[in-house]
Amino acid sequence: MTIEIDHTGKGALVTGAGAGIGREIARWLARAGATVAVHDVRPDKAGSVVAEIEAEGGSALAVIADARDDAALEAMVDEAASRLGHLDIAVNNVGMYGEHRPGPFTTLDGAHWRGLLEQNLVITALAGAAEARHMVEQGGGVILNVSSGETTRPAPFMAAYAAAKAGINHLTQTMAVELGPSGIRVVAIAPGTTLTETVRDAFDDEHVAALVEATPLRRMCDPDELARLAVFLTSDLARCITGQFIVADAGAFLSRSRPANRDPDADRAAVHDPARREERP
Ligand SMILES: NC(=O)c1ccc[n+]([C@@H]2O[C@H](COP(=O)([O-])OP(=O)(O)OC[C@H]3O[C@@H](n4cnc5c(N)ncnc54)[C@H](O)[C@@H]3O)[C@@H](O)[C@H]2O)c1
Repeated sequence: MTIEIDHTGKGALVTGAGAGIGREIARWLARAGATVAVHDVRPDKAGSVVAEIEAEGGSALAVIADARDDAALEAMVDEAASRLGHLDIAVNNVGMYGEHRPGPFTTLDGAHWRGLLEQNLVITALAGAAEARHMVEQGGGVILNVSSGETTRPAPFMAAYAAAKAGINHLTQTMAVELGPSGIRVVAIAPGTTLTETVRDAFDDEHVAALVEATPLRRMCDPDELARLAVFLTSDLARCITGQFIVADAGAFLSRSRPANRDPDADRAAVHDPARREERP
């Protein structure tokens, strides 16, 4: 007997899918047969992922919006549902730091806290609500929120990011309770440090090696591996799982000696240093 995951005929939306983890989730959902609405704030990035999916024989379309604009976000979800015909799977992947920088707790100002809560928790909640309205109407669906392994233990300099992602874990449970009776499952994945372009730019080789050394499997997860998990969790094979968040980090959360971020200005902070990320929003 072989077991297959078949998303043929399903309509899927992936937010922030122009790069990194979202891009791989979009590609893998398409490989499993779904038609995928590839969302990003950058039309060029969304367009190139659509082209990649089509080159592999899959089906995709681009939807463009800055997710920080509430009205544009809701209109984008409505557009995706309308062009797909039905919204069966929605992956809320937009997150990270936006234009903000990690730093010591005592230095984080209101703009930092509000910015990180918006970029992660608020966007996920508002996207989820817009998606759920379509799913309630059509009688079911699956929503997958992207959290972080940073919610499994405290890490210096990441207070606002980790708190916002921890909020996503609780939000996932509340959504599961409210939406379950409408046939909607809500799950989350919590990736460990994953060398997407954004993160690779920010870490030097020495820090990556130290993180790997402190991880039980002595490796990090690839975006590709997180995408396979997303395909499983959104499939019928996972049909009795809801309100759960699944950590995928090669065991890093078990580590007692996770290397601390050494200097927020020289290390993680660079993730969103505009000088190093000119081409990104
Ligand atoms: N990479 C990691 O180590 C890691 C670990 C844990 C969790 N995560 C989470 O995974 C998700 C994806 O991370 P990534 O590293 O793949 O990110 P990334 O920076 O590589 O890609 C994010 C994509 O989202 C788009 N985007 C960003 N803000 C947007 C907005 N306001 N509106 C529309 N599009 C927007 C960007 O243009 C980009 O294409 C995030 O939620 C992040 O917090 C990442």
